[in-house]
Amino acid sequence: MKFNLISNKIAEIDVDTVILSCFLSDDSTNGLVHDTDVELNGSISEILSRGDHKGKLREVTEIYTSGQIPAHRIILVGLGPENDFNENCIRHAAAAAAIRARQLGASKIASIIHGVEQSKLSAKDAVRAATEGTMLALYVFDKYKSENKLGSIESVSFIEPEDIQSEDLLRGIEQGNIISNAVQLARDLVNEPPNVCTPAFLAERASQIDDDANTDVSILTEPEIEDLNMGAFLSVGRGSTRKPRFIVIEYNKKLLDKVQPLVLVGKAITFDTGGYSLKSASGMSTMKADMAGGAAVIGALQAAGQLKVPYPVIGLIPATENMVSGTASHPSDVVSASNGKTIEIVNTDAEGRLILADALVYAAKYNPKHVIDLATLTGSAIIALGEGSAAALFANETSLAEQLLTASESSGERIWRMPLYSEYTDWMRASNVADLRNSTEKRDSGIGTSAAFLQEFTEGYSWAHIDIAPMAFLSGTSVIKRLGPAGATGFGVRLLSHLMIEYAN
Ligand code: BES
Ligand code: MN
Ligand code: ZN
Repeated sequence: MKFNLISNKIAEIDVDTVILSCFLSDDSTNGLVHDTDVELNGSISEILSRGDHKGKLREVTEIYTSGQIPAHRIILVGLGPENDFNENCIRHAAAAAAIRARQLGASKIASIIHGVEQSKLSAKDAVRAATEGTMLALYVFDKYKSENKLGSIESVSFIEPEDIQSEDLLRGIEQGNIISNAVQLARDLVNEPPNVCTPAFLAERASQIDDDANTDVSILTEPEIEDLNMGAFLSVGRGSTRKPRFIVIEYNKKLLDKVQPLVLVGKAITFDTGGYSLKSASGMSTMKADMAGGAAVIGALQAAGQLKVPYPVIGLIPATENMVSGTASHPSDVVSASNGKTIEIVNTDAEGRLILADALVYAAKYNPKHVIDLATLTGSAIIALGEGSAAALFANETSLAEQLLTASESSGERIWRMPLYSEYTDWMRASNVADLRNSTEKRDSGIGTSAAFLQEFTEGYSWAHIDIAPMAFLSGTSVIKRLGPAGATGFGVRLLSHLMIEYAN
C-alpha cells in the first residue's frame, strides 16, 4: 500500500473510492465535501439532513456516484463530536473507512485529510494520524494461512488542502509510515508462534531491523551473560533447551560520549508456562505474547533510526523462555542479580521482574538520561485497569511521567500513572533468606509490588516502568475499538515513537 498526495479536484481524480468525512450532527457540508456534494446533485447533504448518517466516530456509509464523478463510490465516515476532535479520532475514522474500503474490494483510494479544514490540528499531524489509522487497521497476520481471503488496497492519495505546504504533508505521511511499519514489526513478532519465536529468533530479527546504518546490534549468549553475573535473568531460562539471548540495540552510538541516551528495556519471555508455579491451561493460552515488551522495543529502535531521532537511543532486551524441566528453578531457590542483590524465588511465575532486574542494572552503564521499561509484567495490571483500557505507568520522576503522558495523548496509546508507595518495597524486602523476594502473599497489591521490586535495580537514574499486560494482546471478544485485528497490538511502539518525536532530549 502506497501513500501519496494529489491536488486535483475530486471530480477529476481517477480512483475507485473517495473517502470523505463529517462531524457528529453536521447539518451542512463544507469544503471538499461540499464541492463533491454539488457534483453529486446534493446526495451527501440529503443523507445528512435525513439523519441516515449521523457522523458518530467510525460510522461509515457508502454513496454510489452513478458516473457523476470518476470514482465509483464515496465512503462517508463519521468523526464524532467536533469539540472532542483530536489525532486519535482521525486514526479511528481512517481505520473504519479503510476496513470498509477493503470489504468493498477498493484498490485505489483518494481521501480528504479528516477535519483539517475545520480544526486547529496541524495538517502534518492529521495526515500522519490518517496514515497510521489506515495501515494499522488493515494489518493481517496470515503467513500461516493457505488462503488469503482479504483484498489489498494499492494506494491511498490524500487530497492536498489549499495553502498547506506539501513538504509538511509528505513528512507527516513518512512519519506515519515509519511508525506503522514499526508497530507491524512488533505485532508480527508477538503473533509469531512460540515454536518459531525463540530467543535466538528474536535476536536474529533484531539484527535485521531496517534503518539508516546508524544502528548497531550485539547479541550476548549464555556464556557472556554468565560473565556479566546476571544470575536473576539466567535462572529463568534454566528450564528450557532454547538458550537465552541478551539483545543490545544501539542507535546513534557515536554520540554516546557527548549526549546521554534514552534507554528502552523490554521483557521478552518467548513463552511463560509459569515454571513450577505452573499456570493453568487458560492462563497460559496467550503467553506467547509475554515477549511483547521486547517486541515493542525492537519496533521503537527501528522507528528511532528511520525517524532520525537526534540523540542516542539504546534498546536492551533480555530474551528467554520460562519452562519446566529438571533444571528449572524451584520455588525457594535463591539467585544473585548483577548488582549483588540476592533474590528468593518464591514464585517461578514472577519471572519477568527477574530478567528485567539484570537488564535495569545493565542500563546504568550508559549513564542514561532516562530508562523506560515495557513489560507484560502482571495479571494484576489487567485486573486494575481492564483489558484494552490502559497500560500502567510507574515513574520515579514526575517530569518523565508527564512526557510519557503527553506522548500518550498524541499517540492515542493510553497509560495511567500508579503510585510507588514505600510499603510495597518493604513487602518485597521481607524475605527470610535473601535481600528480596520475587513475590508476596499479598495478591491484591501485585501490581505495585512488582514495580517496587524493579525499582530496587534502578540506581541513580530517571526511570519509568510501563506494565503493558492489559494492552499487548487483545482477544476477539474485547469490546474496545481496536486499530487492527484481535491478537498482538504492538502497544508501546506508537507511544515511544511519539515520545521520541516530541522530546528533543
Ligand atoms: N506474564 C505474566 C503476566 C501476565 C498475565 C501478562 C496475564 C498478560 C496476561 C507474568 O509473568 C506473571 O505470571 N505474573 C504473575 C506474578 C505473580 C506470580 C506474582 C501474575 O501477575 O499473576
Ligand atoms: Mn509469569
Ligand atoms: Zn511473564
